[in-house]
Order: sequence, then C-alpha cells, then structure tokens
Amino acid sequence: MEIEADVARHYGTAGIAARVLAALREAQGADAPVTVDGLAPLDQFHGRGPAATRELVALLQPQAGERLLDIGSGIGGPARWIAAKFDCHVTGVDLTPEFCEAAEALNQATGLTERVRIIRGSALALPVPDGAFDAAYSQNVVMNIADKLLFYREAFRALRPGGRLALANLCAGTGGEPYYPVPWATTRETSFLATPDEMRADLLAAGFEIVDFRDTTAAIAEGQRRQRERLEQGEPPPRVAADIILGPRSREMQINTLRNTEEGRCAVIEALVRKPGQ
Ligand SMILES: C[S@@+](CC[C@H](N)C(=O)[O-])C[C@H]1O[C@@H](n2cnc3c(N)ncnc32)[C@H](O)[C@@H]1O
Repeated sequence: MEIEADVARHYGTAGIAARVLAALREAQGADAPVTVDGLAPLDQFHGRGPAATRELVALLQPQAGERLLDIGSGIGGPARWIAAKFDCHVTGVDLTPEFCEAAEALNQATGLTERVRIIRGSALALPVPDGAFDAAYSQNVVMNIADKLLFYREAFRALRPGGRLALANLCAGTGGEPYYPVPWATTRETSFLATPDEMRADLLAAGFEIVDFRDTTAAIAEGQRRQRERLEQGEPPPRVAADIILGPRSREMQINTLRNTEEGRCAVIEALVRKPGQ
C-alpha cells in the first residue's frame, strides 16, 4: 500500500539500535547495564516517553503470564518494559523494517528475546491468529492510519473474548489544522487525525465496549509548555527516542507537536475498550 510505504520511509533510518546504545552509554557511562529502565527514555517513541506508558498500563493492567499484542511497536521499548515489569509475553507488530531490526537487537541486548517477539507487518492485516491475545495496546500509531475502522477490527479479531485494548491516540483538536512537520509525518499526506467522537464511533462499530475514554490534552499541554520554550530557545534537549530516531529533523517536529497540543490543534485521548464475552 502506498500510504504504508510512505510511512515506513518517513520513520526508517539505518543503525538505530547502535545509536540508542551509544546514547545510553553517553548518559549513564561506558559500563552502564542495558536494562529496560535505563533504555526507557531512549527507546519509547512517543510524547512523554515512559510516563505515558505508565498511564497506559494503569488502564490496561497487564497480568503475569498474559499474552499481549503491541500494535505499531516501534523499536520495542514499551513492549520490553511491559514484558519485564509485568512478567508477560508481548508480541510487537510494526511496519517499519528498520524499527523491527532495532527492536530485535535491543531485545537481545536486554536478554528479553524469550519474552518479546517482533513481527514485521501491517496493523491493517495483523499477521496473528484470531483470538490469540488476552490484551493489546497501541501507543501513538493510529495517526498514521487512514482506515481506522479496519485497524480496530483487526485488533478485535486478534483478541480473545473478554480481551482488552488500551489506546493512546493523537486525535484532531478543535483549534485548526496542525503544524507540520511532526514526528509521525512530514506533511499532512500521511497524517490522519480522527476527532475523539469519530474514534469512539469506530471503536463501537468494530464491536468493542468502551470501558474508559479520557481526553488528557489539557493536562499534557500544561506540563509541556516549559519543554517547548527550552527547545525554541535552542537549549540542548534531553536525549529522547524521537531525537535518536529522527535526527536533526526532530527539534522542529517536537516543537510543532508541543504547539499543536497547547493550541488544541491535536487532542490526546487515552481509552480502554473490551471485546465482549468471557
Ligand atoms: C510514533 S511511532 C510509535 C512506536 C511505539 N508505539 C512507541 O510508542 O514506542 C509510530 C509507529 O507506528 C508504526 N506504524 C504506522 N503505521 C503502521 C501500520 N499500518 N502497521 C503497523 N505499524 C505501523 C510505525 O512504523 C511506527 O513504529
């Protein structure tokens, strides 16, 4: 598909795992152990890094031994962190070949290859059997997906009856067209922001029951204002996954993301939904 090829081209660069490990050594010393906590700011590729993942797992509540699916798993940071902290098995599916390679190298480096499996593939045709997972999550992915109903239908198919899906979605705000480039898209051609109402309607149409649905935009914008001012003043930003993955493009993209949230051009929705049944 043309959109998927464009999205993978936007994200993919060579040598990501080596850059992440170099950033870890730079921050924590040449002999720093490679742990999920040490890597967390560097391998979780979404706004607010590990803090956002902690909010998502508070909704999802993974249980020891559960089989989890991470849809759009990036370089695998959230999957490794959740597998290690909650003693569960996580399968990550992602479109971008360079991200899957980096995820596998970092699984090796953290000793988590038995617990975290990475499959290169599309969220719109998940390469997993029906009903194979107890729970699933997707963090900052659907803004690259034009056909969101198909995305949610695929997640629904992959879950067992009673299975949960936790989402952290960037949605369209009421403040006008977002500024581009942003970390997920250079232009609007590969950015697809649904409104929160459209997100809710698609989830219901896919068959899910809505357990929790919250707009966290205002709380996030308040916390991020100082970060934007520092970036705009040219202060060196703390190393985060976005800057390791996207390189020099990242500063402008991060500033635009922060402005989009502050000005209500994007909304951040966290949701927990459930596939009916036991
Ligand atoms: C901003 S990154 C977030 C990565 C990861 N969820 C995280 O939080 O660290 C968006 C991810 O979605 C993936 N993605 C976008 N469209 C996809 C699709 N159609 N199928 C699978 N993955 C997709 C990209 O390759 C990228 O890894």
